Amino acid sequence: MIVKLNSPRFRNCFYQKIGQGKPVFLVHGFGEDAAIFKHQIVDLQNSFELIIPDLPGSGSSQLCDEEMSMELLADFVFEIAEQENFQKIILFGHSMGGYLTMAFAEKYEHKLLAFGLLHSSAYADDAAKKETRRKSIKLIENEGKEVFLKAMIPNLYSEESKLIYLFEMQEHLTMALNISSKALIAYYHAMIKRPDTTQILALVKVPVLFVVGKKDNAIPYIQMIEQASMPAIAKVEILEKVGHTAMNESKKELNRIINNFCLYVLDKK
Ligand code: MLT
Repeated sequence: MIVKLNSPRFRNCFYQKIGQGKPVFLVHGFGEDAAIFKHQIVDLQNSFELIIPDLPGSGSSQLCDEEMSMELLADFVFEIAEQENFQKIILFGHSMGGYLTMAFAEKYEHKLLAFGLLHSSAYADDAAKKETRRKSIKLIENEGKEVFLKAMIPNLYSEESKLIYLFEMQEHLTMALNISSKALIAYYHAMIKRPDTTQILALVKVPVLFVVGKKDNAIPYIQMIEQASMPAIAKVEILEKVGHTAMNESKKELNRIINNFCLYVLDKK
């Protein structure tokens, strides 16, 4: 079911609501929308109530007037939880979705039973990453988003996956091309200015899942391993052949990991 968020801040924004059970949020990353999780829905909908938003500016959701930031996106997820009257949620974020998950953990830890970073990080961008993003913004402005996205999307897959998941990569690109240049640039500015949130990881009391792609070009796996020792309770899953997109490169394995982590969290409750 597609649901509209009733919010003066987030006008014309939507999320999918599928399945039954405890609420589990799956939040997409940059250049994606809710459809990036379509292979997760198949296996997880029988055990959980899945909430899968289109972030403002992606998929069917309108970019909002306020300046884009991870905190704004965390507020968006919070408003969905409020609209659904959820007391507590389990929140998973892919990459940029993980950055906003960290902002959510900082502001709304009381709403979390647990959370997961799927190929994501609590580190801020370093100077080199900021520079690369600024160059990408210029590329989008000068040559258009197509040139940028056609170069970017294959980089989110391991060399091995590139040979196997051609269809998934094409779908991924189509999804990304559906996002306006304005929104892509707004996300990049928001990522450039996001703060380091490692102190939040060190403070959170809820369990944290790290899903790590050993062949990830966007979030080097060693960075995730460093962070996995920070929370009081953490589970780390390393996918040997995967790049940045386990949702497509390791569908069944990711579903099993999410399912097991949620069952562990709910059993402890
Ligand atoms: C994403 O997948 O959300 C992006 O790779 C995040 C980033 O550029 O840091």
